[in-house]
This record gives sequence, structure tokens and C-alpha cells, in this order.
Amino acid sequence: MGMGMDERIDALKRMTGLEVAADMPLSRLSSLGIGGAADACVTALDELALASILATARKLDMPCRVIGSGTNLVWTDAGWRGVVVRLGDGFRRIEFTARSEREQQVTAGAAVIISGLINRCMEQGRSGVEGLAGIPGTVGGAVYQNSGNSDFSISDALASVTFLDLGSGQIRTASVEELGMSYRHSRFQDQPAVILSAAFKTKPMAREQILAEVERRLKRRGETQPTGKSVGCIFRNPPGDSAGRLIDAAGLKNTKVGGLRVSDKHANFMLNEGGATFRDFTELVDKVRSEVRRRFGVNLELEVTIVGGAKGNGDSEDPAVRRWKVSGEGDFH
Ligand code: EPU
Repeated sequence: MGMGMDERIDALKRMTGLEVAADMPLSRLSSLGIGGAADACVTALDELALASILATARKLDMPCRVIGSGTNLVWTDAGWRGVVVRLGDGFRRIEFTARSEREQQVTAGAAVIISGLINRCMEQGRSGVEGLAGIPGTVGGAVYQNSGNSDFSISDALASVTFLDLGSGQIRTASVEELGMSYRHSRFQDQPAVILSAAFKTKPMAREQILAEVERRLKRRGETQPTGKSVGCIFRNPPGDSAGRLIDAAGLKNTKVGGLRVSDKHANFMLNEGGATFRDFTELVDKVRSEVRRRFGVNLELEVTIVGGAKGNGDSEDPAVRRWKVSGEGDFH
């Protein structure tokens, strides 16, 4: 294209007719509060706006990344060269559709916050998604990640997902069986797509009963997990064990690098106590990993998603970042 970044940002504004924020601190777009800046950040109010942003950014050679609320997302210090896209009001709708006398589906836009979806279902006396109580983030992010806890995952409630296939440019709906959902995994992690909405199976249940279940889950979470700036569990649980238990047993609670500390309440959480950087994150993760490997012979894998550069780790100037699995354009969180 031969255009500088400022010119491209101006062109993006002009061609989409949208407000574009330049030099957006990505620390604001992650609950861990770490990250450099994005060249541009824009909100897509509906599917048409989303299509326009993606097409325009492609013309301008600006890599696009669509995100949710950033509760499982760690940005690198280098930030994002291109456009970060957030989903606006048109992706916050919740609709109930009768399938039969008992069965109803609830369809939620990708930007609906999980707790909001649970509350709406509760008001309607519909059971199905309350097992997700306490999980932060959006419906789109939770589907991408197959979010859940020890006894319930979003795939247990899911009926189908509607998404924009970035390969073909088509909007498609796939049933849960087609989405390859397993522990913290969905097909969306391997194929470029933007999740637009998700439909969940629900059945009738008394509001009080749903509320009791929600409160039980929130209470348990409050007792076992810290509040504060975090992205929840950092590592995936190895088969048959808990990463938190292993890190705790290795004596690593409270280990600190820079502004980042292993929680003393739940050892699989890292808390940003102020000014933490991605470099701190990489050092602390390395420390925890090597100690757990040394003590127990277990290799911990990251559960959170790291995003940076534009094409992933391959194009990072920073060798410390290059050896990490950093994902690039086209994924959704
Ligand atoms: N444990 C320790 N020390 C710790 C943390 C845990 O000894 O510092 C022990 C606990 O006492 C318990 C066992 O480890 O015996 C399991 O702990 P917990 O019930 O807290 O569950 P978890 O396996 O650590 C998983 C999910 C959480 C989810 C909880 C609750 C993963 C990686 N983690 O944690 O998900 O909230 O179950 O259901 O799958 C997340 O994904 O961000 C997340 C927080």
C-alpha cells in the first residue's frame, strides 16, 4: 500500500465512517492490565459494520483482531500492529425461542456478558447456563475457549454457534457437535472466524432454584479464588491433576517478578499488583514451569491466550516473545 500508519488510520475512519481510536493502550483491554498499544481500535456496532471494518482493514493491509472483554487475554509489550475490533450493542442481544412446550433456546450475541445471560435466563425461569456462574467475560470469548469450571463447560449448554467464516467470508451456523469442543478447546482456536452469537438449550426451572445454584457457585469461587487484576487460571490442568495444586505444592505461592505475583489464595492465578509487563509475565511463567517440572516432572501448558505483533510470534522483534505461542490475526477472544 505504501501508506504510513497515520494515513491508514485516517483512511479507515473515512472508509468505514466509524470512530477509530489511535494508539490504544491494550492494558485497558485485558483484565490483567498488561500490554503495549494497538495502532487502532474500533467498535463494530453490528454485523454490517464488522464486515466493513474487516474488508477495509484488509484493503489497507492492517491486520485485524476481534476481541471480547479480555478476561483470558495477555497482550505482549509490543502491542498490536493493526486494528483491534470490539463488538458493540448489536452483539448484545438476548432472545428466547420456543422449540417445544418445554424446550426453549436462548440466543445471545457474542458481546453479551456471561453473568448478564445467566440473569436474563433466571428472570425467565430458564435453566441451562447457570453452571457458568462466576465466569467472567463474554459469550464469544467463552465459546472460543470452551470456558467452564471443574464440573461444567459452556459446551454442556450450547446448541449451536453462528460465526463469520473469515476463509469464505460467509456467515455460518454450526451445531455444537461440529465445533470440536473439549477441555478449554473449540475449533475456533484453529480456524480464522469471528463468533457472532450462540444458542443454548434451556428447560423450565423455578427462579429460586436457579438463584440458589448461582449463589452456591459464586460462594465457592469467592472462597477459593482471589479478586484483583488477573486473567484467571494461567495454566491448563494436566490430565487428572490441578495446576494450582502443583504450583502450591512446589512452594511457589507469592513468588513475584516485577509487578506480577503468584496469588497466595489460588496458585494458578497471577495478580498484577501494579505496573506489571509482559516481560514480567514471561519470567514468572518460566519460573513456575521449570520448578513444577523439576519437582513433579509435569509440563504445564498455558491456558490463557497471548496476543501480539500481527502475525503472531513469527514477526516479533523480541526474541523473548518469539519462542512463545503468540497468536496473530483472525482469531477471536
Ligand atoms: N489447590 C491447592 N492450592 C491452590 C489451588 C488449588 O492445593 O493454590 C487444590 C485445591 O485444594 C483442590 C484442587 O487443587 O483440591 C483443585 O482446585 P480448584 O477446585 O480451585 O480447581 P482448579 O482445578 O484449580 C479449575 C479451573 C478454574 C475453575 C475451577 C473451579 C482450570 C485450569 N481451572 O481450577 O478455572 O474456576 O476449576 O471449578 O481448568 C480459569 O479457567 O480461569 C479458571 C479459574
